[in-house]
Amino acid sequence: AGYLTAQLSSAVSTTAHEATADEITILVGSQTGNCEELAEQVHDLAAERGLRTVIKDMGDYKAPQLKTEKYLLVIVSTYGEGDPPDNARDLYDFLFSKRAPSLKHTQFAVLALGDTSYEFFCKTGADFDQRLEELGATRLFERADCDVDYETAAEDWMTSVLNVLSQRTLSVSEETGLTPATANTAALSPYSRKNPFSAVLLDDIVLNGRGSNKETHHYELSLEGSGLSYEPGDALGIYPRNAPELVEELLEIMHFNGDDAVSSDGKARSLYEVLLYDYEITTLTRPMLQKYAALNGNPKLEGLFDEAHKQDLADYLYGREIIDLITDFPCADLNPQDFIDSLRKLPPRLYSIASSLKQHPDEVHLTVATVRYQSHGRRRHGVCSTFLADRIGSETTIPVYVDHNKNFKLPSDPSAPIVMIGPGTGIAPFRAFVEEREAVGANGKNWLFFGDQHFMTDFLYQSEWLRYLKSGLLTRMNVAFSRDQAEKVYVQQRMQEHSRDLYAWLQEGAYLYVCGDEKHMARDVHETLLGLVEREGGMNRDAAEHYVKTLQKEKRYQRDIY
Ligand code: 2AM
Repeated sequence: AGYLTAQLSSAVSTTAHEATADEITILVGSQTGNCEELAEQVHDLAAERGLRTVIKDMGDYKAPQLKTEKYLLVIVSTYGEGDPPDNARDLYDFLFSKRAPSLKHTQFAVLALGDTSYEFFCKTGADFDQRLEELGATRLFERADCDVDYETAAEDWMTSVLNVLSQRTLSVSEETGLTPATANTAALSPYSRKNPFSAVLLDDIVLNGRGSNKETHHYELSLEGSGLSYEPGDALGIYPRNAPELVEELLEIMHFNGDDAVSSDGKARSLYEVLLYDYEITTLTRPMLQKYAALNGNPKLEGLFDEAHKQDLADYLYGREIIDLITDFPCADLNPQDFIDSLRKLPPRLYSIASSLKQHPDEVHLTVATVRYQSHGRRRHGVCSTFLADRIGSETTIPVYVDHNKNFKLPSDPSAPIVMIGPGTGIAPFRAFVEEREAVGANGKNWLFFGDQHFMTDFLYQSEWLRYLKSGLLTRMNVAFSRDQAEKVYVQQRMQEHSRDLYAWLQEGAYLYVCGDEKHMARDVHETLLGLVEREGGMNRDAAEHYVKTLQKEKRYQRDIY
């Protein structure tokens, strides 16, 4: 996140003291680099029009400053079950608290990022949008709710918002006082989400032993010649391609000819090609189902969108994919173009990087669990994880880019202790962290918690950890193998068992990192952390919550969860 962090902080510091009335504040709340990238895009487009913008991370933003904002653009993503990203939490809570000020001098617009495969799509953005209006602010332009293929919708929103802003703002100086981010970026690498680099797969090792329930791969990709660089904590974005067998099956069920021409992004392509490369043909989302229902005209399908059938809709979506929909509700005379238009673009998948560039120049390593399961009588395959595991031939390159994540970073102080909690593939960034600390000779203590099903088959990177323990680089390691005994054991239990030491580390200034499953693990770990602080710190619940919040504010509690 080097250039990104630098750009953001320089944007903040150069303009903080010289705020002018017509400055436009762009507030960013996100867990990955997408929102930041969009903020920079707005910044660049605004600069072209002579508009002055300043990008601020919600996590660093002083909430009471809101009432001094004249023009405010909010770019925020939604997490899991409708939650704000970690760095947006405080501002979000502030806005909905009694402390929230009147904002009648503020004009605003919200760009919301989300994923239509979740029920509470773009909820955080919608909440910001509604709340800002309730507090008296004036909407510059309607909110855009963007799905994972957000590019076009986001760009349309930017153009519209900037059109309005250009009209409203008056004297704006040509001199923005900011170094344009693009200049820096371009100098480093021409490759980005929009223009991915074609990486070659150097190595593919299955980390699990025989008899494991899991299939976790360690991949090594070459970045040679790309100019791409990353820091531990960053993620790699990968554009997968769909499974040819699935494309063929879909074509057959719909009686389509793969050679038929369709238009995608204004270009004529074969139906087969666009289904393979361009569109998501597995995940069944509400908007897709709704569009298909309209094409299909089946009243039973259309009826699922009545408020009264909310639960029936959720039940139908559960464990089903697009192929189930078209099998269950065939559509006679469906036009291939209409079908394509009901789909969303195949978005890139993000994986936390598992290597330090300092130890592996020109390489990037990933730890990826291959997703294969059975539901409603069909074998299902994760698009990107099986693309990597099954569909990379000697001629295949992998379209990649680096997704900088400034909210998951090693402490800048090499002597600061760190505690890493990463069960399953959550271990990935911690391999990068420890490698990096070795490479730079950081002398801070390192404590790792790892968990998986079985010691014998699922101890990911076991020999590396043992080597680090031996060399002393890894100060402590505690493991929880959940299925090696009658009762399940999870990393939280190990945290509990060592709660006194863990609290002592925190008191010494340790940084705490959690990576992995959001829905269950990260929530339970958070709960455990609160309980542990209560007990060891002799605090009540409120005080413990304040303590953990302070950790978060000081960036000493960071999460990379999915
Ligand atoms: P389980 O699948 O045996 O229940 C990595 O997937 C490890 O995380 C596994 O050992 C898994 O255990 C465990 N795990 C599952 N749910 C968890 C939770 N809520 N908190 C912590 N670990 C969990």
